[in-house]
Amino acid sequence: MHLLPLALAVLSLLPHSAFASVLAIDYGADWIKASVMSPGIPFDVLLNKDSKRKIQAVVGWKKSDRLFSTDAFNLASRFPSDSFSSLKYLQAAPFDSDIVSYFSTISTAEVVKTSRNTVALKQSDGTEWSVEELIAMQFAYVKQLAEGVAGEKVTDVVITVPPYFSQFQRDAVVDAVEVAGMRTLTLINDGTAVAVNYAMTRTFPTPEFHVIYDAGASSIRATVVSFSTPDATIGTQIAVAGVGYDLATGGTELDRRLREILIEAFNTKHKKNIREDKRGMAKLWKEAGRVKAILSANTEATATVESLAWDIDFKAKVTRGEFEAACEDLKTRYARPIDDALRNAGLTLENVTSVILTGGSTRTPMIQAAIKAAVGEDKIALNVNADEAAVLGAALHGAGLSRQFKTKNIKVTDIGVHDVQASYLASASASRTINSVLFPAGSKVGSKKTLTFKRKEDFVINFDYKDAIAPGVPTRFLEVGIEGVTEAIANLTELGASDPVVKATVKLSESGFVSVSNAVAFGEIKDESIAGKLKGFFGAGSSSSETDTSSENSPPRETTGSSSEAATPSGATNSTPEKEKEEKKKVVPKDNTITLNTTVVFPTIPPMSTEGKKSARSRLRAIDLDEAAVARKEEARNTLESYLYRLRDLLDPENRDTPFKQCSQDGERKAIGVKLDESFSWLHDHGDVAETSQFLDKRNALETLERPIIHRYKEIEAFPQALNNSQMWNWSTRLFLEEATQNLTAEAAADLPSKWTKDELLALEKSLKEHETWLNEWVEKQKKVQMNEDPVIESTEMKARAKVLETALMKLVKRKVPKAAKKKKETTTATEEATSTVAEAVAEETSSDADTPEADAKEETTIIPTPIPTADTEGGQVPVQNHDEL
Ligand SMILES: *[C@@H]1O[C@H](CO)[C@@H](O)[C@H](O)[C@H]1NC(C)=O
Ligand SMILES: *[C@@H]1O[C@H](CO)[C@@H](O)[C@H](O)[C@H]1NC(C)=O
Ligand SMILES: *[C@@H]1O[C@H](CO)[C@@H](O)[C@H](O)[C@H]1NC(C)=O
Ligand SMILES: *[C@@H]1O[C@H](CO)[C@@H](O)[C@H](O)[C@H]1NC(C)=O
Ligand SMILES: *[C@@H]1O[C@H](CO)[C@@H](O)[C@H](O)[C@H]1NC(C)=O
Ligand SMILES: *[C@@H]1O[C@H](CO)[C@@H](O)[C@H](O)[C@H]1NC(C)=O
Repeated sequence: MHLLPLALAVLSLLPHSAFASVLAIDYGADWIKASVMSPGIPFDVLLNKDSKRKIQAVVGWKKSDRLFSTDAFNLASRFPSDSFSSLKYLQAAPFDSDIVSYFSTISTAEVVKTSRNTVALKQSDGTEWSVEELIAMQFAYVKQLAEGVAGEKVTDVVITVPPYFSQFQRDAVVDAVEVAGMRTLTLINDGTAVAVNYAMTRTFPTPEFHVIYDAGASSIRATVVSFSTPDATIGTQIAVAGVGYDLATGGTELDRRLREILIEAFNTKHKKNIREDKRGMAKLWKEAGRVKAILSANTEATATVESLAWDIDFKAKVTRGEFEAACEDLKTRYARPIDDALRNAGLTLENVTSVILTGGSTRTPMIQAAIKAAVGEDKIALNVNADEAAVLGAALHGAGLSRQFKTKNIKVTDIGVHDVQASYLASASASRTINSVLFPAGSKVGSKKTLTFKRKEDFVINFDYKDAIAPGVPTRFLEVGIEGVTEAIANLTELGASDPVVKATVKLSESGFVSVSNAVAFGEIKDESIAGKLKGFFGAGSSSSETDTSSENSPPRETTGSSSEAATPSGATNSTPEKEKEEKKKVVPKDNTITLNTTVVFPTIPPMSTEGKKSARSRLRAIDLDEAAVARKEEARNTLESYLYRLRDLLDPENRDTPFKQCSQDGERKAIGVKLDESFSWLHDHGDVAETSQFLDKRNALETLERPIIHRYKEIEAFPQALNNSQMWNWSTRLFLEEATQNLTAEAAADLPSKWTKDELLALEKSLKEHETWLNEWVEKQKKVQMNEDPVIESTEMKARAKVLETALMKLVKRKVPKAAKKKKETTTATEEATSTVAEAVAEETSSDADTPEADAKEETTIIPTPIPTADTEGGQVPVQNHDEL
């Protein structure tokens, strides 16, 4: 991968546990791509169990076995009601909406209604799964792959979504993540993720606009993005300027039309209606995908399905021309998202440096041709990986957010693409509704708006998408009640506030969620003396910590550059560390702000309830546990089985002179043989019903018999080396003693200081003698031992004894001369020293690694990793996540 040289350097200063890996998932209607950012792991896409770089977004059941990806997809032709694909279409879709009808034209799965009026799918055995649950299973599958790579639990995830996803759909994504036992760091629009990937390897000294054209399975979207790198220290800035999309085109619709051709061909030729046969329809769906791929490179293709239905083998030739004719009406739509995106951004093609193609459907010739015709061939860029750019960009973005990885500094500004409107009754008595577009399309995400109301009673603010997002999908998504108004306003009035009002702060979060983040009653109390007097009235028992919270509760103001000098009320001193930030805001005295309660109602398509998520999580965990138990049993059985075969091989009379034979006695072999036969017949009779522990016990019993034999030949192998080691220490101690004794004598004669005393050398000599005596005696004994008898001395004991001698010797060798003269480093390297030197070298290397990440280091800013608390997902705990906070 061309991205590998950019592998992110990870600061290695903190202990490993302080890091949390970040998983990115690009969840498509057809394919899932995933990538995990983990310390020390090369940054790349995750491979699935078949080493493929993408995972088919399908889950299915073959009887009680749950399958994923291609295995699950292939099930459809045999079990058409038990293979669930294209689930992305169904996220947060109302049961009776058009999109669900469309789904039923492309899928053979049975849809049913949930209590939330959304969609669940029904297995042939009657089990129902909500769309969130099925997607959660896929997320959990990916999580497992990621954990295999990262070698640790993975809980933090970034998910890509199409920019047009509504709050309903975003809720459905985040709920599925939670049901999968993870938590969402953020959602990122897929075009934006591609832009992050694009910026990764580039800088933009002069600002550039590019269009990210993404043709996926379920839709086509275009995102106009500005890139600039005004200053290397600031990093690269990416800002989404406009988005366009088309929900009726995309790879799935092309597949559907191609299948229509095949259906027609079959029905005409065989005078049957293949639509009546679910298996046949599923087979044709698969074949349509294959033929479409062939037609991308060839002008004709032959569809062949053996025994499609009624035992008929189906064969039909399809030309690219026929296929394109069947899609004629879509021709004008492929490029339209680009025009829309440019118009929304207030730009023209002239402003755009390139149109970057991504998404699997950009391989389809007629789509390519349409884009070429619309923007000109020279504008088209194929410089990102069409399949992987989004997920890699999302991972980079997530790594930046998690602040634990050193990544290129890229600042992303995204926008909402739907007009979000707030509405409320004009007054308590009136029936007139006031509508105000709070976040028009193109509003920056991560921004807030404050609404001010002159109210004396509780009231409700409704939030709608101004225009329908899709046919049959409601526009209203949220109702927020503001409560406690009457009392709060009355209190403020009593305190002397003139014209108190209610202020509600509405947030459009980075992940695209709209919520009321704060509501207060507020009134300016002009008269200082009254305010002062009333301090006591409010402040009875108020502590300084209350002062701190009051600043949070004060209505957030638009931070206009010039902060007007608000009078700080006596008492409400601002001595928090956030002082600077506070000063920018208008300081609002505590006494004239009262926090109001808000209640949230989901009037149309509610997200999953906390309870619902908990029980979904338990359902999934139960399957996981079952599968893990089955896998363990399977493994225990396989291991036992191959062990039995291996033993049988060892016992085979044909195999003479093997270490096993040489080191075993007749009786031992007989005992093993008996047990082996017994185990084989047990496996044959009970293998299918036995418990995991029984497989383990059977193996254990045999291993106990085999172990002494293995031990013998391991010892025979280890003996020469152990002896060599012992002799080496014997030898070097002897040499040392001779030389040291000479030196000592010479030094004594010359009246020079010595490193050792005579007694020390004598003591060493004694150790040496003891060692030698032992060695002589036992080596002789060992030599008499037969190969199939247990050894009389063990290599471990020989090593331990040599070690005693070594220690005694090294103590003297390392001794420094009393005067400056340097000690001599002998052949006998000081093991301890050596190890510590290596350790230092390693430590240095790692830390310097971290400091010099990559060639364009000037682009880097060091982000000091900070450990973040990870939600405990063990024991069925659901990391409860408030979507508003995303
Ligand atoms: C876009 O191009 C037009 C025409 O060349 C130019 O007038 C305008 O300033 C450009 N806009 C931006 C934002 O670069
Ligand atoms: C807000 O709700 C809490 C808990 O439901 C309640 O105790 C409190 O009185 C309410 N405050 C107002 C101002 O309504
Ligand atoms: C309003 O004032 C009353 C009486 O002082 C007090 O008990 C109550 O908590 C106040 N309510 C609010 C919402 O501040
Ligand atoms: C003993 O060790 C020395 C040095 O490592 C080596 O040259 C020699 O071959 C070894 N002898 C045996 C029997 O292992
Ligand atoms: C120990 O070393 C001495 C002198 O090098 C040698 O004579 C003796 O045989 C050795 N003993 C053993 C058991 O290797
Ligand atoms: C003995 O003395 C010589 C000469 O000073 C020195 O090089 C050698 O290291 C000494 N040997 C020992 C074992 O200390």
